[in-house]
Amino acid sequence: MLTRTLTSSFRRQFSSSSIAYNRALVYSRNGSPSEVLSAITYPDLPPPPPNTVNIRFILSAINPADINTIEGVYPSKPTLTSNINSTGPGSDEQPVFVAGNEGLAQIDQIGDGVEGFKQNDWVVMDKSQVGTWSTCRNVSAKDVIRLPLKDSDGLTAPHGATMTVNPTTAFNMLREFVDLKEGDWVVQNGANSAVGKLVIQIAKLRGLNTLNLVRARDNFAEFAKSLEDLGATKVLTYDDLKDKAVRGKIQEWTSGKPLLLALNCIGGDATTSMVKLLSNGAHLVSYGAMSKQPISLPTSLFIFKDLMTHGFWQTRWSKTHSREEKEELIGKLAGWMSRGQLQAPEHEIITLGKNETDEEVSQRVRGIFSDMAEGKYKKKVLLKLEDKA
Ligand SMILES: NC(=O)c1ccc[n+]([C@@H]2O[C@H](COP(=O)([O-])OP(=O)(O)OC[C@H]3O[C@@H](n4cnc5c(N)ncnc54)[C@H](OP(=O)(O)O)[C@@H]3O)[C@@H](O)[C@H]2O)c1
Repeated sequence: MLTRTLTSSFRRQFSSSSIAYNRALVYSRNGSPSEVLSAITYPDLPPPPPNTVNIRFILSAINPADINTIEGVYPSKPTLTSNINSTGPGSDEQPVFVAGNEGLAQIDQIGDGVEGFKQNDWVVMDKSQVGTWSTCRNVSAKDVIRLPLKDSDGLTAPHGATMTVNPTTAFNMLREFVDLKEGDWVVQNGANSAVGKLVIQIAKLRGLNTLNLVRARDNFAEFAKSLEDLGATKVLTYDDLKDKAVRGKIQEWTSGKPLLLALNCIGGDATTSMVKLLSNGAHLVSYGAMSKQPISLPTSLFIFKDLMTHGFWQTRWSKTHSREEKEELIGKLAGWMSRGQLQAPEHEIITLGKNETDEEVSQRVRGIFSDMAEGKYKKKVLLKLEDKA
């Protein structure tokens, strides 16, 4: 019903002469992003209906899960959009999925009945799959959270654009499973992932110690130092754990304190070897599977050491927690970020320029995803879709 209303209001306003400058990255069938993503242009949005806001994206993140979503293998499913164009892709005749789950936007226009927002406020998404790889969207006011701080307070756009997925995940995993006290230890694999680096920093802010596991690499000492500079207590490779003497070293580091929480985003051997370090009654929390290998754990750890295993999914956390709890978490993270206590991920901003045609942008974006699949991007990619000049 809402779609119909918007579409007809859109037709009234834009059917004849408006020039289209807004842009979105869309797909109409699942597949590899390097094959199915296209750019489309669409006119400015009509004024927002009651209880909604028009938001304009400043910067949007590309996360590993976005690729799985476009492939159609991720549990969060986007809904079809049919109200941003009157004909062609994005219209009733050709509905499309607008890609992108995470991003920083600013409030552009406010519909009747909306309270708590003003124009140009910075907001982040409180709903998954809003379609953040776009210039602007109309969303329900309850689907965005206002950031209490912005650039004038020291918060940067890359911080805001990457706030709702990784920092929240790192924060919640350190809080939800084990009642950790200052001086306690946490072990994690994939410690140099974006989430892993946030775990390191948030643990440090809480006075916790981290044992960080990564793949072996040529420049390991320099690499380990970069994680220590972020706040990592100790860094080892998965291969180091094959040497049984390392266990003694870890006991020395922890002064015999129990190791009660392990965070896993890799799977396979990198998880099996990590879990063997855990103490009685410890918790293994899995939140990713970057190696695509299943987890295999010795049964004895469950029987004799009372190992407990869990999955963590930030999307589920968001759906099961109140708006107040989410605002409080976002406020805490924004505060740390604005004071320079939580770094934005190393990133590369890719601008999709207003002077490029949709065809040019489509080709460029497909190339970016091809390169990404080949591991050519080592930094987080942030998209800036340029809007009307
Ligand atoms: N459950 C949730 O709510 C939630 C939230 C956020 C993220 N995640 C998931 O967390 C994971 C990490 O996300 P991110 O954005 O932090 O990733 P990222 O920054 O791209 O880092 C990927 C990490 O995976 C490692 N890796 C990749 N392939 C590997 C392999 N075959 N074997 C061992 N290590 C491998 C990389 O190590 P190298 O440097 O050695 O290549 C790097 O540490 C993803 O699976 C993501 O979907 C889940």
